[in-house]
Amino acid sequence: MTQDELKQAVAREAVRHVPPGEVLGVGTGSTVDFFIDALAEAGVRIPGAVASSERSAARLARHGIPVLDLNELESFPVYVDGADEIDGSLAMIKGGGGALTREKIVAAVARRFVCIADASKRVEVLGRFPLPVEVIPMARAYVARELAKLGGAPRLREGFVTDNGNVILDVHGLAITAPAALESRINDVVGVVANGIFARRGADLLLLAAPDGVRTISR
Ligand code: 5RP
Repeated sequence: MTQDELKQAVAREAVRHVPPGEVLGVGTGSTVDFFIDALAEAGVRIPGAVASSERSAARLARHGIPVLDLNELESFPVYVDGADEIDGSLAMIKGGGGALTREKIVAAVARRFVCIADASKRVEVLGRFPLPVEVIPMARAYVARELAKLGGAPRLREGFVTDNGNVILDVHGLAITAPAALESRINDVVGVVANGIFARRGADLLLLAAPDGVRTISR
């Protein structure tokens, strides 16, 4: 099976975790693109979805699924999103698509985070995938120096601006053995908007696609 076929398989499986009649939180990325398509195809009736990016909002709208304002909602049951890496405690690195800040915000309001991934994303220790950090543009050089002090090698994601008008530093060379602590430490650097470690609010459920099927792993 190709990686795209695995992503499609896990996307179809995720539709079974969407509560009918409830608002849904929707992440960003190629796996989520397949999920949005599968959701529309399955015809699950939901009042609408909150999107973590302009990209996902546009795809939802193309399928006729109403896109809702997060500020109008106190909570909703399920958020479905992909990951760049996920470890055994269901902590993740996210933000390969640059949507990490909105993903973190939407995930914070959801009661349950369902991560959808192919088996290549499952790791023992987070950090082989460069850690995305969203930064206010004027703080770029300062934040890069601070991240270097933490042992990483930050690189500006060239030509990329987030939906929030900020830049991304991708931090190479980190072995993230204490994800929640590093997440908080990086958040403390002035100029950082959010970082791509999702450990303080990790996934509650992982749907992991391999050639022999989709495994369900709970926290
Ligand atoms: C976007 C993300 C994505 O979930 C992550 O990059 C995985 O993407 P894909 O499903 O394309 O492999 O965090 O900001």
